[in-house]
Amino acid sequence: MTAGAPATRTTEALLVDALSAGYGDTQVLWDVSLRVDPGEVVALIGSNGAGKSTLLGAISGIVKTWSGAARYGETSLTGLEPDRIVSAGVLQVPQGRRLFGSLSVEDNLRMGAYLRKDREVESDLKRMLDLLPKLRERYDYLAGRLSGGEQQQVAIARALMARPQMLLIDEMSLGLAPVLVDQLIELLASIHQTGVSILIVEQDVQTALEVSSRAYVLETGRITLSGPSAELLDDPQVKKAYLGV
Ligand SMILES: Nc1ncnc2c1ncn2[C@@H]1O[C@H](COP(=O)(O)OP(=O)(O)O)[C@@H](O)[C@H]1O
Ligand SMILES: [Mg+2]
Repeated sequence: MTAGAPATRTTEALLVDALSAGYGDTQVLWDVSLRVDPGEVVALIGSNGAGKSTLLGAISGIVKTWSGAARYGETSLTGLEPDRIVSAGVLQVPQGRRLFGSLSVEDNLRMGAYLRKDREVESDLKRMLDLLPKLRERYDYLAGRLSGGEQQQVAIARALMARPQMLLIDEMSLGLAPVLVDQLIELLASIHQTGVSILIVEQDVQTALEVSSRAYVLETGRITLSGPSAELLDDPQVKKAYLGV
């Protein structure tokens, strides 16, 4: 498409290279490396406290990286302010939803687009409501008044309003009824079809491995296993530790 492509092309979308991070004096992540290719859905699985949220935080600039690096395409994310990382196209849907509870659903969605300078915010809003009809019904409700599942839908829709190229999703299914999880998975599939790359963190390992093409296992801050999700679903170690079979 473009003439004179650079000699060193980056093929991956997100690359995390030997990243270490922690809080205060306590190291949480040890030389974590992973990659997400363009348009790929990759799962990061691991027990509570393994460091999954810390890793997403380090990628999105909320947690300070001690050593190692993260980059998105040609952009080094390490040391960038969180806003700049969002502008680079990488956006996190935080664990626990964190909506503006005293604002309406509409205002929450509009907040998602606050860094955008294009004029397609209105048409994107309409697309979100087409994708998530429940939000149309709840458009004027205060976000704090919604059920957990509805709040999670708002959180994802709000993230999408920023038009990210790479979405980091932390514990999407936590505390939600299975029927809602199914709806969110359909939503993920439709997001994926628009070409967005997704790194999904899930304690529901079955779900995570079903929606992703590849996965990484994080144990006490280290990647201990990685591979095609279908293979990990069959892996005896994964089955025993995470699938309860
Ligand atoms: N803000 C924080 N300050 C200090 N320690 C933290 C903070 N957030 C998480 N931790 C600690 O870091 C470790 C990893 O936590 P976390 O990344 O939340 O794991 P996970 O998301 O896999 O459950 C845990 O021991 C946790 O207690
Ligand atoms: Mg977490």
